[in-house]
Amino acid sequence: MPNAGIDVSAVALGLMRINDKSDAEIRNLYAAARESGINFFDNADIYGPTLHACEARFGGALKLSSSEREHIIIQTKAGIVKDQGYYDFSYDHIMQEVNDSLAALRTDYIDILLLHRPDALAEPEEVARAFSDLQAGGKVRFFGVSNHTPRQIDLLKMAVRQPIVANQMQLSMTHSFLVAQGIAANMREDQAVVRDGGGLVDYCRVGGITLQAWSPMQSGEGGLVLDHERYPELMEVVDHLATKYGVTPEAIATAWITRHPANIQVILGTTSPQRVRDSAAGADVVLTRAEWYAILRAAGWIVP
Ligand SMILES: NC(=O)c1ccc[n+]([C@@H]2O[C@H](COP(=O)([O-])OP(=O)(O)OC[C@H]3O[C@@H](n4cnc5c(N)ncnc54)[C@H](OP(=O)(O)O)[C@@H]3O)[C@@H](O)[C@H]2O)c1
Repeated sequence: MPNAGIDVSAVALGLMRINDKSDAEIRNLYAAARESGINFFDNADIYGPTLHACEARFGGALKLSSSEREHIIIQTKAGIVKDQGYYDFSYDHIMQEVNDSLAALRTDYIDILLLHRPDALAEPEEVARAFSDLQAGGKVRFFGVSNHTPRQIDLLKMAVRQPIVANQMQLSMTHSFLVAQGIAANMREDQAVVRDGGGLVDYCRVGGITLQAWSPMQSGEGGLVLDHERYPELMEVVDHLATKYGVTPEAIATAWITRHPANIQVILGTTSPQRVRDSAAGADVVLTRAEWYAILRAAGWIVP
């Protein structure tokens, strides 16, 4: 992560779906992640049925020792008021959520705090005050955003003094607007429609902001990206590459994202230890240019 100056694994484990898992299952999931080289764990105040539920499941099941805590990166998010349907980047909301996240996670510090979704009423000075107080108090080391456009990041940077280290966006082999739009620019096709504020991937690369891909196995249209019935052409390519590289289709879905030179970090959401291992193995597969584009075309995107 260039703007944080820290080394993180190319694949991270997202914890949005762990609420119903037992402590032993969460420990096994964590162990599988660590064995697979994952040092990065993504959470949010709103994951689970009640506020801070998934953070509390993680913190409670693992009860991390201080030495283990030092070896991992804990990222969490704030800014969504889920039960009332609005966004809140106010000083009071950010401070409250971080304090509650720290308690739920049973940790003294959060490595990275993301603002979860852009707040139309965002006031950069409020955000800046919260970030500065959180950093000065040793509660948060680094700050980032999620689902933000370049201009929304610029707006925050008017007042925020800390570097924005990450922007977490939805990206999978089929939900690939981020990388597909640019190659169809100025065309009549729907693919040319700008959905990310324009040039988000390049903006992040230029500015040292690490892009993170959420829902890497979801199609974006409901269901999984690895669905033979729905995506027969794509799966033919994926299965062929899985055989060629001796990995599973999940690994190819991961490899397609990690192959991008923006060093996009894949945020896995599986709760299965075996799928963690299988998917994480994709970070070691380096697809050729031809293979990367073959997946893009088979997923239905135009390569003009
Ligand atoms: N910033 C944001 O706005 C935002 C939004 C959503 C999510 N996120 C983050 O991104 C993380 C990942 O999101 P996600 O959970 O949607 O990721 P995902 O990895 O795309 O999907 C995981 C889900 O797909 C299932 N799955 C994966 N591969 C499968 C297969 N081969 N066969 C059957 N089921 C399969 C998993 O089931 P099993 O558990 O049974 O494997 C799990 O239910 C979340 O944990 C969260 O941290 C962020």
